[in-house]
Amino acid sequence: MANPSILILPGDGIGPEVMTEVRKVIDWLGARGHAFDVSEDLVGGAAYDKHGVPLADETMAHAQEVDAVLLGAVGGPAYDDLDFSVKPERGLLRLRKEMDLFANLRPAQCFDALADFSSLKPELVSGLDIMIVRELTAGVYFGEPRGIFEEGNERVGINTQRYSESEIERGARAAFELAMKRDKRLCSMEKANVMESGILWREVVTEVSKDYPEVELSHMYADNGAMQLVRAPKQFDVIYTDNLFGDILSDCAAMLTGSLGMLPSASLGAPMANGRPKAMYEPVHGSAPDITGQGKANPCACILSFAMALRYSFDLGDEATRLEAAVEKVLADGVRTADLMQAEGGSPVSTSEMGDAVVAALEASL
Ligand code: IPM
Ligand code: MG
Repeated sequence: MANPSILILPGDGIGPEVMTEVRKVIDWLGARGHAFDVSEDLVGGAAYDKHGVPLADETMAHAQEVDAVLLGAVGGPAYDDLDFSVKPERGLLRLRKEMDLFANLRPAQCFDALADFSSLKPELVSGLDIMIVRELTAGVYFGEPRGIFEEGNERVGINTQRYSESEIERGARAAFELAMKRDKRLCSMEKANVMESGILWREVVTEVSKDYPEVELSHMYADNGAMQLVRAPKQFDVIYTDNLFGDILSDCAAMLTGSLGMLPSASLGAPMANGRPKAMYEPVHGSAPDITGQGKANPCACILSFAMALRYSFDLGDEATRLEAAVEKVLADGVRTADLMQAEGGSPVSTSEMGDAVVAALEASL
């Protein structure tokens, strides 16, 4: 049987640096009987520089064919003034939309060794393990009409929040399925107090919950949800929310864990002919232009995203757990990239040293 295929899209900023470290993990697995066919291509500003668009059609077509896409990060100050239609972010959004990756899984887990790093008190976050499921292909990110229009003697900017029942439902099912494998609690967040799309959201999620009687469903207005996330984050197990609220709430949840440099994500779509879901894996952090090229980036979020790929795309749950444990071990041993340093001291390791430490921990785990 052919090896499973991976398309790596390192993108911009620190994307290529952190992806180099993921390659070390891929090579380590390859040498131990889990080989992948890895190809690499451009996305974001890097693709714009070469093709004049943030995602070439051939790259899009290739992404549709592989078993999983691994993406680094897109964007950077050099591209700030580009026309909206060719901004680096459009490349990422095109991948999400055309691959129909409707369920975006953003786990926020606080590693014990990092509890002191959170902006919240350690006791509020130690042991934190929540999973945000963000709907990723609809809502205000894609709704029509959109644009900037002339109206009388001024301009108006318009975006449209739009959700169909089926769009709400399929994400909800993904969230309930995850809840079944976890603590069986699901909190759905919307703004049913001001938005019709929120009313529909609540109705559909409630309907879907009938198929999951073991899961305890609750509803929360998204603004209250933001407040509760920083007040008492451990009350949550799985959160299901829309594209825009999920964007905001997941950044908020990420910071609880200490560093954005630790947070992985998986974006999953419908099963392909081979049974694997359409899938893209990416760190939640961005391209971090301020530290690009300095060897300071934390590769853990990208490495942990690859662990999610092992689990969700490649049926290698044991290897995923091994990789996550390796990252945890390295942190427990006090190995720290700059983002994980307390002000008072110690010397940080480089991106590459962090990747080597994770591979060494993998090796030691055998
Ligand atoms: C994210 C990012 C993206 C989003 C940007 C880069 C388009 O913030 O993945 O959370 O808004 O979805
Ligand atoms: Mg975001």
